[in-house]
Amino acid sequence: MACCHYFSEIEGNETVFSVDATAISCGHGVLKELGHEIKSLRLSRVAIFTDAHVSKLWFFEEALASCKLAGIDVTIFDESRVEPSDRSMMNAIKFAQEGQFEGFVSIGGGSVIDTCKLANLYSSYPADFEDYVNAPLGKGIPVPGSLKPHIACPTTAGTGSECTGIAVFDLISQNVKTGIASKYLKPSRALIEPAVTQTLPSSVVACSGFDVLSHALESYTASPFTNRSKLDNPGLRPLSQGSNPWSDMGCREALRLSGLYLERAVNDENDQEARENMMFAATLAGIAFGNSGVHIPHAMSYSVAGMIKDFNPVGYPSDHAMCPHGMSVIVNAPAVFRFTAEHCPQRHFQAAELLGADVAGANEEDSGELLANKISNMMKKTGMPNGVSGVGYAQAHVGELANGAFAQQRLLSNAPCDVKESDLKLLYQQAMSYW
Ligand SMILES: [Fe+2]
Repeated sequence: MACCHYFSEIEGNETVFSVDATAISCGHGVLKELGHEIKSLRLSRVAIFTDAHVSKLWFFEEALASCKLAGIDVTIFDESRVEPSDRSMMNAIKFAQEGQFEGFVSIGGGSVIDTCKLANLYSSYPADFEDYVNAPLGKGIPVPGSLKPHIACPTTAGTGSECTGIAVFDLISQNVKTGIASKYLKPSRALIEPAVTQTLPSSVVACSGFDVLSHALESYTASPFTNRSKLDNPGLRPLSQGSNPWSDMGCREALRLSGLYLERAVNDENDQEARENMMFAATLAGIAFGNSGVHIPHAMSYSVAGMIKDFNPVGYPSDHAMCPHGMSVIVNAPAVFRFTAEHCPQRHFQAAELLGADVAGANEEDSGELLANKISNMMKKTGMPNGVSGVGYAQAHVGELANGAFAQQRLLSNAPCDVKESDLKLLYQQAMSYW
């Protein structure tokens, strides 16, 4: 890609990027096609993963009716937990192992889709839970091969999990979030019904919307794929291969849409145009980060969410303390982009501009400040917490937060610069509050 200086070839480094995308159908009424999709994969007996809330909503009924019409034998698992843990994953895995299903459907947010990915994985290739978990927290053993078919139907505009090979959960024993990443976890197909966001509480739209925004920002500013050493075996090319021309396309459009519609989607629950555009932005950002990877804000989010105590956000289940994923990411973002800007200022500048920041008279040296201010303004206008202190952390927690984030080497190595544990301490300090 000599045409684009950001991806200049470097002697001995990677010269190839790969595009691995889920097949997608998107639009009003698409869940009526679920039965047809299942049949086209030659399946007659499937498990549908959902949660207790989604299982009562109109689109779940619509999906179920479609399966019935197609004569599919369906068993429902509605115990997926919002922000899943290794324990809740284990329940789902047991269900899948006992059911011996031909394939899987997930209808829900990222938590449901991620739960279904792991139920599929461990029922296809039984192993100790820690075996496939990312090292160093788990053993990091590669997923052996293809899983059973999985059709993902997202119901929040956020995680993009329908397009990625990543599943995230709380590792309770170590008090931290982590995940499993493999191209084989990527759902076979995704059915995206834009109207599902109509009934979401504003707080959920905000958290998932900021997850979208950060996926796009992190993928766009990730270390270029040409910075990695070339591997002898192309089969070992990582899922998070770094920013690349394919991912850039999705990032730019997801940023433009987030700038136009995120605040509207949160602040006016009747603004269907805004909510549906955020649904599309989520998918675009999912395709992008599924092929490039995220970096520091997500690495920092894992300890923000994993160490949470006594925090129960409005609009989420109140039976356990939690910090929604998108919230745990975005509270770090302004501090991080101030820090990373000097390593690819042009990209930070373009991102701020795509989000709608006023860049008149500004130049690239201002790009970190421009982008950080734009993000924190959007957070302020949509009722997000004012930095990590807003979800219950203080200076005394900085060491432990940084220690947890530093374990996320898979993500940190995708950043546009080296990240030391001392950098993470400084970033958490700077992320305490923004206004
Ligand atoms: Fe995310």
